[in-house]
Amino acid sequence: MSTLKIPTAKVFEPLLAPARYKGAFGGRGSGKSHFFGELLVETCQAERGTLAVCIREAQRTLAQSSKRLIEGKIAALGLGQGFRPFSDRIATPGDGLIIFRGMQDHTAESIKSLEGFRIAWIDEAQTLSARSLSLLRPTIRAPRSELWASWNPRRKSDAVDDFLRSRKPDGAVVVKANWRDNPWLPAVLDEERRLDLALYPDRYEHIWEGDYVRTFEGAYFADLLAQARREGRIGKVAADPLLPLRAFIDIGGAGASADAFTIWIVQWVGNELRADFQHLRRWRKSVEQAQSYTFKAVITVIATGLLGAIWLGIKVMLGR
Ligand SMILES: Nc1ncnc2c1ncn2[C@@H]1O[C@H](COP(=O)(O)OP(=O)(O)OP(=O)(O)O)[C@@H](O)[C@H]1O
Ligand SMILES: [Mg+2]
Repeated sequence: MSTLKIPTAKVFEPLLAPARYKGAFGGRGSGKSHFFGELLVETCQAERGTLAVCIREAQRTLAQSSKRLIEGKIAALGLGQGFRPFSDRIATPGDGLIIFRGMQDHTAESIKSLEGFRIAWIDEAQTLSARSLSLLRPTIRAPRSELWASWNPRRKSDAVDDFLRSRKPDGAVVVKANWRDNPWLPAVLDEERRLDLALYPDRYEHIWEGDYVRTFEGAYFADLLAQARREGRIGKVAADPLLPLRAFIDIGGAGASADAFTIWIVQWVGNELRADFQHLRRWRKSVEQAQSYTFKAVITVIATGLLGAIWLGIKVMLGR
């Protein structure tokens, strides 16, 4: 086994030790793809015969895969001798292989061709569907096999966020990385970041800080909330027991496209205005459920009444 000394950003160090699941999520330009690309090349170099697959949810052409990035890493690390790039795959030392696949091209049957693979790396994993994730997990079953995911979060309900962040299985190592964790952040990218911060503050937190998409352009308070966060004005505040609490309520609708029901609890403390707000989506769901139960109950009562009336009518007719 040969070893390579590759400088790694501190934030990714927990991902260097073996783990069944490894995840890195965060905003643009945080070095997620470069880290996993290097780790893959390093692993293939150190362990002869490694079989690895780089996965995207959709991969119509190889240009949409991680192939170029990996080839760049092989060249940058001076490992051109042991690795041989082909049009659709890369041969690695000791008869190993790196291949590139789109999950959408796979069926429950065809995915079985990946069973012997030891490493599966899903980049742009925010687009991975729940179906793809559930097909992939039991397929990657070689001894010491690992699944790696790197992604820019969109919604809490996306399959990868649900699995690696909300449920987080034992044995999963997941790190959050952002632009400030990337020692190699190119100046052009940092310029882009600053431009977004100045011109589009409502998207900034999602694009650059790895937050879920929370605000929509034009949302009333998006700018003010982004500014409050930048200035460190969002945190935990205890209610002052001597001052009155006021509640401001924004009543959400019950339809699928309605806003969440929101309640702001506010105190005026000296010249500060302190607010605590909760989006009561769960509450809204239960209201919708209650509405649907009520609706069903009313229909049942009407239907039962109608049937009873018909039955009585028939009895009267027969009685005659
Ligand atoms: N290990 C590294 N060695 C050299 N350059 C690096 C390394 N890591 C990151 N960089 C530089 O930082 C840039 C951003 O890294 P990378 O593309 O890996 O980020 P990312 O988190 O995958 O971003 P995105 O969300 O845009 O996909 C790269 O284009 C590269 O210039
Ligand atoms: Mg990337």
